[in-house]
Amino acid sequence: MLVTGREILQDAHKNNYAVGAFNVNNMEIVQAIIEAAEETNSPVILQASQGGLKYAGVEYVAELGKLAAKNAKVPVAIHLDHGTDFEQVMLCIRHGFTSVMIDGSRFDLEGNIQITKKVIEVARAVGVSVEAELGKIGGTEDHITVDEKNATFTDPKEAKRFADETNVDSLAIAVGTAHGLYKGEPKLDFDRIKIIKEMTNMPLVLHGSSGVPADSIKKAVSLGINKINIDTDLRIAFSNAVKEFIKENPDSIDPRKILSPAKLAMKEAVIEKMHLFGSVGRA
Ligand code: 13P
Repeated sequence: MLVTGREILQDAHKNNYAVGAFNVNNMEIVQAIIEAAEETNSPVILQASQGGLKYAGVEYVAELGKLAAKNAKVPVAIHLDHGTDFEQVMLCIRHGFTSVMIDGSRFDLEGNIQITKKVIEVARAVGVSVEAELGKIGGTEDHITVDEKNATFTDPKEAKRFADETNVDSLAIAVGTAHGLYKGEPKLDFDRIKIIKEMTNMPLVLHGSSGVPADSIKKAVSLGINKINIDTDLRIAFSNAVKEFIKENPDSIDPRKILSPAKLAMKEAVIEKMHLFGSVGRA
């Protein structure tokens, strides 16, 4: 069933678990994620990044997501990941996304509050939830890159002010993760998560969660993270399975045969994450 991000994340916030938000770009990825969610009776968020929208188009992503959600027994939200501007957010809402992120982290605090409030005013009127970002998460998500020296951790006092002034549904915080592949082991600032949770008492979002050790993810969830974004780990599962299949079947020319093991590999990766995040059985 199609639901808003708010419905999913409020339950996660109240009951202290996290829901996976997995980046989707095509039918196989959508199906893999939905099958994993149904098998584990887990709520799930399908999200499209800037690159995903460019690759598949807003309409394809929206229609794929809506069809998958309509046929699913578990709650499914369709979310815009790192929305860059007001117009793009409106386009996604128009096509049926039930959750949007407005990433105003490139602005100063005032500018970020302003753009977030502008989006919320419209989104709330049509029942769509909003995620914002405070602090700057490092790494590369498609064509958006924040290098290490420009990545800044979220200030808890600013988070409190931001939450109070905008009344945003969920907040992405910068606490040591980065988008894409890690060179070393990421070190999360757990105290910061705890303080931000205590001060804001709202659903918190962790971006760049691929490659973060399972122990760190579990601890982050126990301290108040409720939405966990995963892209890179699914790309790895997908491409490794495709490479393996082609190596073993060099004469294969059937995309269905080539993509079936990739879909299965992604589904298994998603199921593993759902267990780790604590969303299994929460649908
Ligand atoms: P990863 O690619 O590190 O999983 O990050 C995904 C993400 O945060 C999308 O916003």
